[in-house]
Amino acid sequence: MTEPYRVVALPGEGIGPEVVDASLKVLVYLAKLEGFSLVIDYALIGQPAFNEFGKFFPDQTAKLCEGADGILFGAVTRGGILELRQHFDFFINFRPVRPFETLLDKSSLQSHKIQGADILFVRELVSGIYFGPSGRTEDDSGYYGFHTMKYYDWQIRRIAKVALGKAKERRGLLTVAHKENALPQIPWSRLVQEEAEHFPDVIVEPMLVDNLAMQLVREPKRFDVILAGNLFGDILSDIGGALVGSIGLLPSASLNERGFGLYEAIHGTAPDIAGKGIANPLGTMGAVVLMLQQWGETHAAIKLIQAIEKVLALGYRTADLAPQGQEILVNAETLTELIVQQLGS
Ligand code: IPM
Ligand code: MG
Repeated sequence: MTEPYRVVALPGEGIGPEVVDASLKVLVYLAKLEGFSLVIDYALIGQPAFNEFGKFFPDQTAKLCEGADGILFGAVTRGGILELRQHFDFFINFRPVRPFETLLDKSSLQSHKIQGADILFVRELVSGIYFGPSGRTEDDSGYYGFHTMKYYDWQIRRIAKVALGKAKERRGLLTVAHKENALPQIPWSRLVQEEAEHFPDVIVEPMLVDNLAMQLVREPKRFDVILAGNLFGDILSDIGGALVGSIGLLPSASLNERGFGLYEAIHGTAPDIAGKGIANPLGTMGAVVLMLQQWGETHAAIKLIQAIEKVLALGYRTADLAPQGQEILVNAETLTELIVQQLGS
């Protein structure tokens, strides 16, 4: 028997616990089917951690995550996640956006505009304006607040290499989000182009981020890999939710240099629907797929994707996908059971 995979589950707040719970059910079942074993530990993050330990990302949680093979994360309102990303230097954030064939009509765009789209956002995750000097203070003009967008060149170069590598494996186009007409001191375009000398097969296309947002909606199929800094990547990747029909469908993987990772949906805590059992767990299940792929459990990953596709093809939908006509509205528990059944069949 091979060593078990150690997963630390950090359910967090809002709909986080529900979607993590559903995804772990599926993962545990898959492990049985595929013959690998799992050890799952739970730890606190966000508000529940603050209530218990006075910290959003307590040391106990950090310790437990060290030495794990993967972290499965739910959601938090704000506190905890940034510290966690920084603690493990998860500078790589992959956010794949690919519509499900059976959900093309859920897109905010006409089906033909989105069918076949396959975009990978590569977002820098531990620097930029999220982590630069900030504060609130006052001067002669009044109270003011500030956040600073600061990037070391090496931070841009290291994420550029990752994005170039991905573009090389894929269709060879790397679009770089930047805003150099207003923020010229952070030269994303030049630094990425310099790194691209080692990737002769990749075309680097710098694009102003405002224009990029428009082009994503106009013609999503033209994109392959999109590289963006922390803030622009956050904003642009939510557009992916509108493209595929629901933000509840989109997963992400955050990795460090060693390939150790945190896996989560890109949605937030959704307090308006929390605790009702109606949240879509497919974003977090997609994150499980990314974790399995990262472990090299390719067969298990494919099985899970196929089971999800089958259940969607049968017409089952959570409320965020606004089922109509022949489609069947289900809660998260039923959807999860259907996926488990599908895996076993
Ligand atoms: C995301 C989220 C987070 C971010 C929030 C919760 C801080 O929006 O992962 O996209 O901005 O990174
Ligand atoms: Mg976000």
